[in-house]
Amino acid sequence: MTAQAHPGEGFLPDYPVRTQRLDLRPHRRDDLDDIYAFHSLPEVVRYVPWPLRDREQTRAALEVKLGQGALTEPGQWLVLAIEYRETGTVIGEVLLKWASAADRQGEVGFALHPAYQGRGLAAEAADAMLRLGFEDLGLHRIIGVCIDANIASAQLLARLGMSREGHLIHSAFHKGEWVNQFVYAIREDTWRAARQPA
Ligand SMILES: CC(C)(COP(=O)(O)OP(=O)(O)OC[C@H]1O[C@@H](n2cnc3c(N)ncnc32)[C@H](O)[C@@H]1OP(=O)(O)O)[C@@H](O)C(=O)NCCC(=O)NCCS
Repeated sequence: MTAQAHPGEGFLPDYPVRTQRLDLRPHRRDDLDDIYAFHSLPEVVRYVPWPLRDREQTRAALEVKLGQGALTEPGQWLVLAIEYRETGTVIGEVLLKWASAADRQGEVGFALHPAYQGRGLAAEAADAMLRLGFEDLGLHRIIGVCIDANIASAQLLARLGMSREGHLIHSAFHKGEWVNQFVYAIREDTWRAARQPA
């Protein structure tokens, strides 16, 4: 049985959320240099809704993230810094949306500095967000949505155990053009079953 969060009660994870190699935690103002290092790269922002950012734009985005370390109402995103524990560097961000309280739905998202991609680190962070969503927030189903050309993201969503439920055509107007999106999803029972010892 999982606890279930209710609107107005608030949801504040016990930070840092530790994984094997990572600490997930709310952003801090002194993360600016690390965050700017990947928010300023075209290959990182290509398929995400946010634009390529200069340092001042990254600073403004960081100000918003400072207040996204807790959830109080459905519709909000929990936005956490991914800190590589060995060096203390913030190498990316991982997100969990509390989409609906009545239907216990959520959504996961992620972005990683390219220097740290290809090592399973995004999967490690995202899997911890699924655990937060299912075990602590009491969600029933969590989705992941990506532009269909974003192969790395689709592969990661599949690696998390999510199933592709839909291929939406011209479902978003992204950076000047209509794009198609994949919708992936996983339910709590499927997620738990995958964690049972063989
Ligand atoms: C989407 C994104 C986070 C994926 O990052 P990633 O590092 O490829 O994802 P993973 O953590 O799952 O790593 C997978 C890779 O690590 C490899 N790997 C190495 N060690 C591993 C381990 N211990 N566990 C799992 N995979 C491991 C896998 O084989 C795989 O390599 P491959 O891509 O060559 O097959 C990254 O591409 C990104 O930040 N993109 C820009 C932002 C973006 O588009 N975000 C998504 C918006 S919808």
